[in-house]
Amino acid sequence: MEKAYADAFEYIRKQYADEPEIGIVLGTGLGALVDQIEQEKVIPYNFIPHFPISTVDSHFGRLIFGRLGGRRVVAMQGRLHFYEGYSMQELTFPIRIMAMLGIHTLLISNAAGGLNPAYRNGDMMVLDDHINLQHANPLIGPNNPNFGPRFPDMSRPYDPQLIDRVLSLAAEQGVRMHKGIYVGVTGPNLETRAEYRMLRQLGGDVVGMSTVPEVLVARHMDLRVCAVSVVTDECYELDNLQPITLDHVIGVANAAEPQMTAIFAALVPELSAPEPKAS
Ligand code: HPA
Repeated sequence: MEKAYADAFEYIRKQYADEPEIGIVLGTGLGALVDQIEQEKVIPYNFIPHFPISTVDSHFGRLIFGRLGGRRVVAMQGRLHFYEGYSMQELTFPIRIMAMLGIHTLLISNAAGGLNPAYRNGDMMVLDDHINLQHANPLIGPNNPNFGPRFPDMSRPYDPQLIDRVLSLAAEQGVRMHKGIYVGVTGPNLETRAEYRMLRQLGGDVVGMSTVPEVLVARHMDLRVCAVSVVTDECYELDNLQPITLDHVIGVANAAEPQMTAIFAALVPELSAPEPKAS
């Protein structure tokens, strides 16, 4: 595995010498951000040694290097999910590589089902915390201390200052942005009514099938993390729960995309390297 990381890193470095500052996982709702990046280099995943290849047809698979609001960014166009059959290590491989390339901050978007009855379709939620119900963890296995500690702290996985900035930017832009707890499940099925009820009782505000593995790996490497969900379905009036279709989820996410994109585009220029922590 160590050699795989080194091979991928060296291949990319040869193609593109600049050090990115910010990594962006273009999940659902953020696809259009790509058009705002002044692209300097695009590398398809399948060109990069050992890189996993995205299988969901609604996503491309490539790394996009360039500038956004004056910052050097690398964006993953084509997110990988556990339900596609990748191992946890495979699907977080690109996060490790982005950190090796130099990013200090990771931004993530996703689509999620609303468990909190105050949340409406098309609302957004900046993640304050998460609950890992994927019954798997990318940090299992031998620990590489060059990446991070054996027992990484998760008391604050999502950066409090960035949470506040996202809330302020959303307020300025008139976007309904909540702050809450994301429950990560494996999918690929959506939840049963009993499961939605349970996830709400466990303390979740939204539920989705991504993000948690990436955040665990990013925090292992002490990256600063900020993630935002688009609420694509309302999963609380359970006696009357209607079937949830992919078309509906994609339709709501696409409608929210301009707002999500505007918030991230406003946030990125502000993201200078975090102050070193006093220890
Ligand atoms: N459950 C899990 N993942 C999801 C949902 C949901 O209801 N909506 C969008 N992603």
